[in-house]
Amino acid sequence: MFSDFDRRAMARALALAERGLETAHPNPRVGCIIAQAEDIVGEGWHERAGEPHAEVNALRAAGLKAAGSTAYVTLEPCSHHGRTPPCVDALLAARVARVVFALEDPNPQVSGQGAEALRRAGVAVESGLMAAEAAELNPGFLKRMRCGRPWVRVKLAMSLDGRTALADGTSQWITGPAAREDVQQWRARSSAILTGIGTMLADDPRLDVRLPELPSGRPRPQALRVVLDAGLKTPPAARMLTTGGPILIMTAASAGEREAGFAARRAELVKRGAAVEEVTGTDPDGSRLSLPEVLDRLGRREINELWVEAGARLAGALLREALVDELIVYIAPRLLGPQARPLVEMTELRNLQDAPDFVIVDSCRVGEDLRLRLRPRHH
Ligand SMILES: NC(=O)c1ccc[n+]([C@@H]2O[C@H](COP(=O)([O-])OP(=O)(O)OC[C@H]3O[C@@H](n4cnc5c(N)ncnc54)[C@H](OP(=O)(O)O)[C@@H]3O)[C@@H](O)[C@H]2O)c1
Repeated sequence: MFSDFDRRAMARALALAERGLETAHPNPRVGCIIAQAEDIVGEGWHERAGEPHAEVNALRAAGLKAAGSTAYVTLEPCSHHGRTPPCVDALLAARVARVVFALEDPNPQVSGQGAEALRRAGVAVESGLMAAEAAELNPGFLKRMRCGRPWVRVKLAMSLDGRTALADGTSQWITGPAAREDVQQWRARSSAILTGIGTMLADDPRLDVRLPELPSGRPRPQALRVVLDAGLKTPPAARMLTTGGPILIMTAASAGEREAGFAARRAELVKRGAAVEEVTGTDPDGSRLSLPEVLDRLGRREINELWVEAGARLAGALLREALVDELIVYIAPRLLGPQARPLVEMTELRNLQDAPDFVIVDSCRVGEDLRLRLRPRHH
């Protein structure tokens, strides 16, 4: 049984973990509190990979007061040597008496072993306190550890009649400035941003993070920007190539054999700083990249949260293949008419029971627009 203080301490640890929202990648966001009875004597959180974990920062803050204390951690303490030494060792060295953690770490190198190592050394260990809240903070890390793929969050901005662009492709801007500012926050917490060549050619977007500096004053990490471009049509003058962080262009594995100009275009894009990776094409002509393979590859690159800003084709394909974990839909109070482009490309339904179904996780007003967060019902 957990006490009221246990709950307050874990809530504080979760708030601390959130400070690493934009910087902890590819590590999880983790917070830690060290308490003597009901006195908080140390706090810590994990800021960046390669730097001390939350437990180590909290123990440092507590100093000698850590002996005989309870440590509240939002994720099971690690027991293996990663980029930094195991947190279990640090907790034992500080002679912590009790460890309460929210969530077991699904990382196969930790998973239950951290708790076990602590128990073996005589530390009282309890888990499961505010586990759901801790999981919400790290959907990408948890999914990647469990199945090797990132958490896929698709953004869609639509009119009141569910349209995303005019018939000629114009879509800037359907929503107001507050919604676009909100998109910046989602991009900032994502490890990568994915788009399709359709959007790249229509909008020439930057897809970078343009926010004021972090509270710490340290440089803000820029997400990896990924373009699905089977035929390698990305223009060398694209704005994405001259702004923001790294770029990865995923192209069809067979494109090199199909086309004479492919090698030259590839060399030009590489010269301009893009990484080009070949992925299996699923259509007979080699276009349309295998989306499961795209996600597997991004998982191997340690991408936790993937933010998708694409048109009806790519967004539709991800939905059809049941690869979407979350939708963020902005609804602008304006009408674009039936000639305008649909929200997602779908095959015609004959049966209402076959309609993809979502659960609204939350909804709010963002400036003049509405924002819905949804998840597939049968996830
Ligand atoms: N309202 C919004 O939220 C929003 C957001 C972004 C864009 N847009 C608008 O959307 C329009 C562009 O949409 P779009 O549908 O033409 O382009 P898109 O969805 O951005 O990109 C589609 C392209 O991606 C490539 N692709 C590679 N593998 C794929 C796969 N497995 N499935 C689907 N596509 C794959 C295909 O080209 P290859 O086969 O050549 O690779 C495909 O034509 C623009 O007008 C833009 O302004 C609206």
